[in-house]
Amino acid sequence: MVKRVAILTNGGDAPGLNAVIRAIVKTAETNGVECYGFIEGYKGLLNNNYVKLDSKTNASGLLHRGGTIIGTSNNTNVFNYKTINENGEVEYKDLSDVCVQNLKDDGIDCLFTLGGDGTQKSSRDFSLKGVNCIGVPKTIDNDVADTDITFGYNTAVSIATEAIDRLHTTAESHHRVMVLEVMGRYAGWIALESAIAGGADVALIPEIPYDMNKVVEKINERKQIGKNFTIVVVSEGAKPKDGEITVKKKLDDGSGLDNIRLGGIGDKVANDIEELTGFTSRNTVLGYVQRGGTPTAFDRVLSTQYGAKAMELAMDGIFNVLVTYKEGKFGSVSLESVVGKNTVVGAASGNTAESNIRKVQMDDRLIKTARDIGICLGD
Ligand code: F6P
Repeated sequence: MVKRVAILTNGGDAPGLNAVIRAIVKTAETNGVECYGFIEGYKGLLNNNYVKLDSKTNASGLLHRGGTIIGTSNNTNVFNYKTINENGEVEYKDLSDVCVQNLKDDGIDCLFTLGGDGTQKSSRDFSLKGVNCIGVPKTIDNDVADTDITFGYNTAVSIATEAIDRLHTTAESHHRVMVLEVMGRYAGWIALESAIAGGADVALIPEIPYDMNKVVEKINERKQIGKNFTIVVVSEGAKPKDGEITVKKKLDDGSGLDNIRLGGIGDKVANDIEELTGFTSRNTVLGYVQRGGTPTAFDRVLSTQYGAKAMELAMDGIFNVLVTYKEGKFGSVSLESVVGKNTVVGAASGNTAESNIRKVQMDDRLIKTARDIGICLGD
């Protein structure tokens, strides 16, 4: 029987985090379970920094609130934690046992890990150390393995769609090519779905290395039928057929972490288009507005269902799983399955080449639909 549970939110924030927290707390209270929240993700677990969560005080009025009331940390791998030793040198340490001890001392029966592939990798690593973990799939990128949709994704797509709508009117007025660079890391879900929703003409995604000649062809075809403007949506992880992804910054946070900040492909695509077509081209980088602010109604409901289901699993004593939504049903899958081949404990926490992420497959209906309605995918 679980009596005390704790939540942590880790990695980049996503709309719906607070709605999941709220749903876990409310479901816990319905079942007479106490709930706590570690502050700033795994960092809070390491420092044993937590707050009591209850619907009378902090865990209410949250449905519409973006961000996370318990904070988050990016790039914290407690299995390979960056420290500075007495000589001022960087030293990486496995501090996971400190976290396990904290959980024991606090009497936590189950840890809910709200996060993307990196967070779930650490969750699986903790489960191997005997911690009862339940993951909830968060990320605007929609790239967590074994689940059809992550919370936060729908909001990001809605924001990208609104941006495309707004770019349409200015593109048409100025006879320009408007490029929109969206997030998504190595998965093209946001770009593909917002391109369909916003009626874009071109969508470039990481899963299909693009041929600029095909993009130019599309723009010229449109010109021939009197359409003197084009909307191009580019995923930050898109790359040309014979080129590499565009890296904005390389970080040095230790092995197994996300040491690459993507960005810049939109500028490259806009410049190439201008040079090759003569159309004035402008790039807009949508950036962090995609993951800030209020969640859509869809994400609020999805998050609430994810949170309630997570607590139900805990009540049923089903641990070391990720809550999933597949083919219209909520369920769970083992964290072992979520990490896939990325099995070495602590070695690669996520968003790395070893990560098991869910990318757009070529037989996905979205790909077929995009092609059917004439969206150029750069191939
Ligand atoms: O994973 C979510 C995400 O927003 C990606 O789409 C983006 O590449 C990345 O996080 C940015 O992360 P950071 O917060 O480290 O800049």
